[in-house]
Amino acid sequence: MSVSDTNAVTLDGLRLDRGGRSILRDIHLQVPTGSITAVLGPSGSGKSTLLAALTGELPASAGSVRVLGQAVPRRSRALLEMRKSIGVLLQGNGLLTDLSVADNVALPLRTHTRLPEILVRRLVDFKLNAVGLRAVADAYPRELSGGMARRVALARALALDPPLMIYDEPLTGLDPIASGVIMSLIQRLNDTLGLTSVIVSHHVHETLPICDQAVVIANGGLVFAGTPQQLQASDDPLVRQFLGGEPDGPIGFDAQARTEAA
Ligand SMILES: Nc1ncnc2c1ncn2[C@@H]1O[C@H](COP(=O)(O)OP(=O)(O)OP(=O)(O)O)[C@@H](O)[C@H]1O
Ligand SMILES: [Mg+2]
Repeated sequence: MSVSDTNAVTLDGLRLDRGGRSILRDIHLQVPTGSITAVLGPSGSGKSTLLAALTGELPASAGSVRVLGQAVPRRSRALLEMRKSIGVLLQGNGLLTDLSVADNVALPLRTHTRLPEILVRRLVDFKLNAVGLRAVADAYPRELSGGMARRVALARALALDPPLMIYDEPLTGLDPIASGVIMSLIQRLNDTLGLTSVIVSHHVHETLPICDQAVVIANGGLVFAGTPQQLQASDDPLVRQFLGGEPDGPIGFDAQARTEAA
C-alpha cells in the first residue's frame, strides 16, 4: 500500500450491475486502514454484491474501486495476486468435509505458497490457536459445532495473513453465545493483527458494538454512513425502518421492484 493511502478501501461513484440491472448506484465509501466497518441493509439490498466488487469478482459498471492502495485489477493474474491479500469468510464456511481441521486451514498455504511442510504446520497451529481451536486440529468438520466450524473457516481465511478481512453474514445459523464469541474474535483479530475488516450483516445489535463505521444500503444506494452512535441517533426514515425491522416504510418490501422503478 502506498504511504499516502490511509484507506484500505475507497469506492468512488461506484455502480454495480447484475443481470443487466443496476443493483447499486453512486456509492462513495472509505474504509480507513485498521478499522472495522459494518455494511448493513435489508435482504436483497446488495450487500454481498458490494463485497463482490471488493474482491474483483464483479467489475464496476461505473466509478472506481480501490483496495489496499490499488485499483482492483481486471486482468485475472493480477486479480488472483490481489485476492491473496483479502481474507474472505463466506456464509457457508466452505470447509472441505473430507479434510481435517488442520488440513482445511493449511489449504491456502499449500495452494499459494511453497513453504516447507514443517512451517505450514506451525502456521496452522498458530492460526488455530488464534481462534482458540488448537485442540481440534485433527477433528473433521462434521464433528464440530456450528460456532467451531465458523472459527475454523475464520482461521483458514487468515492463513495467508491478509491485511483485509471480509465477512459475509458471519453470524448466520449461530446462537447468541456463539455469535458473541465470533464477534469478539473478529474484533480481537482485527486489533491484535492490525487488520482492516468489512462485515456484512443484518444482525445490527451484535455488529454495531464492535465497529468503527456503519453504512446502510437500501433502495439501490448508500443511505447512511457514520459511526454506530450516529446511526442509532439517525432520524432518517429509511434508517429507522431498517433498525426497527418494520415492514412498512420507505424501504420497499420487494427491494428489486423498487430499484427498477427508481
Ligand atoms: N448473479 C446474479 N445475477 C443476477 N442478479 C443477482 C445475482 N446475484 C444477486 N443478484 C441480485 O442482486 C440483488 C442484490 O443481491 P445481494 O445478494 O447482493 O443482496 P444481499 O443484500 O446480500 O441480500 P441477503 O441479505 O439476502 O444476503 C438482488 O436483487 C439479487 O436478486
Ligand atoms: Mg448477501
